[in-house]
Amino acid sequence: MSGFVEKPEPLQVPGLVHLHTGKVRDLYQNEAGDLVMVASDRISAFDWVLRTEIPDKGRVLTQLSLWWFDQLADLAPNHVLSTELPPGAPADWAGRTLICKSLRMMPVECVARGYLTGSGLTEYNASRTVCGLALPEGLTDGSELPAPIFTPATKAAVGEHDENVSYEEVARQVGAESAAQLRQATLAVYSRARDIARARGIILADTKFEFGYESSEDGETLILADEVLTPDSSRFWPADRWEPGHAQPSFDKQFVRDWLTSPESGWVRADEQPPPPLPQHVTDATRAKYIEAYERLTSLSWA
Ligand SMILES: Nc1ncnc2c1ncn2[C@@H]1O[C@H](COP(=O)(O)OP(=O)(O)OP(=O)(O)O)[C@@H](O)[C@H]1O
Ligand SMILES: [Mg+2]
Repeated sequence: MSGFVEKPEPLQVPGLVHLHTGKVRDLYQNEAGDLVMVASDRISAFDWVLRTEIPDKGRVLTQLSLWWFDQLADLAPNHVLSTELPPGAPADWAGRTLICKSLRMMPVECVARGYLTGSGLTEYNASRTVCGLALPEGLTDGSELPAPIFTPATKAAVGEHDENVSYEEVARQVGAESAAQLRQATLAVYSRARDIARARGIILADTKFEFGYESSEDGETLILADEVLTPDSSRFWPADRWEPGHAQPSFDKQFVRDWLTSPESGWVRADEQPPPPLPQHVTDATRAKYIEAYERLTSLSWA
């Protein structure tokens, strides 16, 4: 079992139609037909959306995505139309609400990896491949790959695991031309972001993008959507502590995962019961990690 420990009720805002409650974001449509994407402070771990929120997480993710969209603007058009609050929206939506182009989304998690870990490492250990791509011998947890690779996954429903798929499977699902565009855009954006992060002492080990198509008279344009290059969608490692051969320290939910799997939490993942609420020291440490990632990447102060 997995999913929401407690599914939040959508807010009623005049002029907005609630479309979807995602793991982290709530989606609405405004009267112009645009998408209103509100990032909550929710956090998920082990396929559960926990009942405890991380204060400021929604604003950190939103502000970091906006910063990255700017860095990438010449490389990839993005879906952001405005950061203005819809009239009548709660004041606490400020800083975590984006008005976006409503796109025809591609049902593919576009993952780029420059380093080996996670599900990539598991597949590599079994077959010396990742998403069917052959890799050299001798790589270990945290190794840099000879070149970044596109390792797509299917988009799973809340509570289910995304599943790695081959490039050929993506081409079957979305067509050869779109698959080629997705791979090209994913690797181009990853490479730019990796270099920017590296100059700030952070290794971008891997990341996930979502793209959609915008239609106009001239045809369809591929647009970078969703959130980008946040600790929820990426593995960021402090470069000065990078040491292949074991799990790397990272700027994300590591405290949450470590606490949930520690005896202190009393939670046993295999029992398939919802995880318990997080104690304050875990939410404090996690909030600090998200803010540290924001500050180190942007060189801006959060406060
Ligand atoms: N411009 C857009 N047009 C239409 N849908 C979008 C756009 N940008 C993002 N989305 C969708 O909005 C949702 C964002 O919600 P959220 O981040 O909570 O996602 P999720 O899919 O539930 O979880 P996860 O991010 O872990 O896959 C996603 O379903 C995403 O595909
Ligand atoms: Mg998402």
